[in-house]
Amino acid sequence: MTTKVRLTKLYDNKEIKSTVRQIAKDITRDYKGKNPLIIGILKGSFIFIADLVRELRFPLEIEFIRLSSYGRGQTSSGKVKVLQKIAAKIKGRDVLIVEDIIDSGVTLNFLIDYILKKQPSSLKLCCLLDKVARRRIPVTIDYVGLIVPDKFLVGYGLDWDEKYRNLPDICCVEDEIAT
Ligand code: PRP
Repeated sequence: MTTKVRLTKLYDNKEIKSTVRQIAKDITRDYKGKNPLIIGILKGSFIFIADLVRELRFPLEIEFIRLSSYGRGQTSSGKVKVLQKIAAKIKGRDVLIVEDIIDSGVTLNFLIDYILKKQPSSLKLCCLLDKVARRRIPVTIDYVGLIVPDKFLVGYGLDWDEKYRNLPDICCVEDEIAT
């Protein structure tokens, strides 16, 4: 038996790129003259952060942390694991966390605590997609791209069982068809 997934395009790459440019404008306005440490959460944010930083016209440094709370399922396990730590010093830095999507808020809430313990001089949050309807833990996001419906999304870095991260558009998984 094989499982097929039906994908419906929600945001095409053109719309995503213009959203990224708008976020970059807002970030540039706030960080000009600073040298922030931008932290991307792997794996999902890798495409967003790559596009975002190429729109930022000021000095910055990039780090990644690899977190996971979903495993192979479609809902958060509620337990966040640090699969790969940040190498750079956080203390005294202006830190901007970049996330692809916020769903329950569990991952970001965990990371905020984790970073604040390391005493940054400031901490702001950026996400491309905000699935507000699913929030279990309130988090205030400084830069939000798109408010998205409560559907399982893939593409532009987001996966379904590690697949579809490479799609240039963002699609929703309508259903699974067993054949
Ligand atoms: C996804 C996504 C966020 C998190 C958001 O990561 O990239 O990090 O879930 O969900 P939450 O708000 O409910 O915590 P995932 O754990 O699937 O790992 P991945 O980035 O490697 O795909």
